[in-house]
Amino acid sequence: MKGKHVTMTSIEHAPNAARATATAEWWRTAVIYQIYPRSFADANGDGVGDLRGITGRLDAIAELGADAVWLSPFYTSPQNDAGYDVADYCDVDPLFGTLADFDELVEAAHALGIRVIVDLVPNHSSSEHRWFREALAAGPGSAERSRYIFRDGRGEAGELPPNNWQSTFDGRAWTRVAEADGQPGQWYLHLFDSSQPDFDWSNRWVQERFLEILRFWLDRGVDGFRVDVAHGLDKEHGLPDYDQPDLTDFFRPSPHWAQPGVHAIYREWRALLDDYAGDRVLCAEAWVSPLTSLSDWVRPDEMHQAFNFVYLATSWDAEELRRVIRDSLAAFGAVGAPSTWVLSNHDVVRHATRLGFAADAELFHGIGPSTPGLPDPATALRRARAATALMLALPGSAYLYQGEELGLPEALDIPDADRQDPAWRRSAGERYGRDGCRVPLPWEADGTAIGFNDTGLSWLPQPEQWRTLARDRQRLDPASTLRFYERALRLRREHALGAGAIAWERTSGDVMDLRNQGIRVIVNLGDHAIALPAGTVVLSSVPLDDPARLPVDAAVWMREE
Ligand code: NOJ
Repeated sequence: MKGKHVTMTSIEHAPNAARATATAEWWRTAVIYQIYPRSFADANGDGVGDLRGITGRLDAIAELGADAVWLSPFYTSPQNDAGYDVADYCDVDPLFGTLADFDELVEAAHALGIRVIVDLVPNHSSSEHRWFREALAAGPGSAERSRYIFRDGRGEAGELPPNNWQSTFDGRAWTRVAEADGQPGQWYLHLFDSSQPDFDWSNRWVQERFLEILRFWLDRGVDGFRVDVAHGLDKEHGLPDYDQPDLTDFFRPSPHWAQPGVHAIYREWRALLDDYAGDRVLCAEAWVSPLTSLSDWVRPDEMHQAFNFVYLATSWDAEELRRVIRDSLAAFGAVGAPSTWVLSNHDVVRHATRLGFAADAELFHGIGPSTPGLPDPATALRRARAATALMLALPGSAYLYQGEELGLPEALDIPDADRQDPAWRRSAGERYGRDGCRVPLPWEADGTAIGFNDTGLSWLPQPEQWRTLARDRQRLDPASTLRFYERALRLRREHALGAGAIAWERTSGDVMDLRNQGIRVIVNLGDHAIALPAGTVVLSSVPLDDPARLPVDAAVWMREE
């Protein structure tokens, strides 16, 4: 076949990789564990996690039973948006290590049968990227400026921004630059922070640079890419004003999200990936609704997966959940793609807190101590475990976010001075932002920094109560969230639930009741315990006091006799 690349670290050559090589198109059913490198494990003790820290802890992911990891950005970056502001796409930031550390990580993961997906950030670079600095220096009308979206301002002296678009992180989406003569000049677009200028994807030069970046990482042996802001690369021609100033409602149609031009870009990427051996994947971070539009991202010649954020955004309600599951399977099924289920990631309130809120709570800007309606933590955790049992029973693939296997809640009491999310800064403290889901993991109850490192430093403070949630404690407790996740993943694999199909036993009421591959899945979202049918409970989201009854906010998987 033309242009096949086989690299030393590609997974086919891993001696112990039977699990990962067992199926073609592994991504259709895979459970993929998101690692947020800053907060996973810190080998050099500077308070920020790093690549060697990850390599040293990969056994925990193998033990959990995940098929792959996705690493959030570790590239050269001033870290204004925790690495989603990339200054060099083909190097590792010294904060996280070196390219050699990365190669070691990939080799170690592959040896364990774990695939490695990296994050690609194509919508914008850092303003520190050489390409942007050259664009600033070259001046209006230059080829360098055309890599990004520079425009003259409105108003008599160009003093007004070119349109009314707002940044996702609050404030306007345009920043004015000073030209070579020191005078205020053009404006550039940034849908996120002002240190994250948007590329102009209609420019072939930009497209070609990203093809090179894809090849760079594919040649190093990565198994795929999670594509950041995959719905944002194409902007409506003429950049028209827009009457919805709050850009955080990502599901609303707008001139900057979900424009049709994005699809040609991903078709070209897909063709490039298809030229490589080893079933490499593209996963879209696309906040797109309805599901029948999101499925455009995963048509046969485009990406393989797209996070199902409509599912993530669904509240703890049986009717709503049934509807979104049905709609998802229909929409993705119609294009021959799996649904990619997800409940938590580094941008949203952890589901072990989120699911305890009332359905209409406004959580998108993050939560903190003054947020109204803070839930009872025990109820929220019960629901989270039940929600996970439901998600992992569904056909398709699923992403887990580091720490959810420990039942970590959102950290609320982060001192203002420690908060780092640009949304917190840009909104002058009006939005708590996402720091609460990014706190470094607890590994050892009695360790310094709860086992995150051996110096006690931590870029965000860890709640002292997290000692009881540490992984070493949970490993010894058969009723822990960790042991529940391990069991769920093992059974999911044994019964090939990811490759199954759903039959509904009940289609109304507060109890969800469905079958997949001979496993009956029952979730109680009502307000009283219910009787369980005859059969053997193989997984329960909480210990059952009475084996014949399912309490409120709990789920079981059963084998019927
Ligand atoms: C989505 C990423 O997940 C988020 O963390 C980041 O701030 C924005 N994209 C901008 O890159």
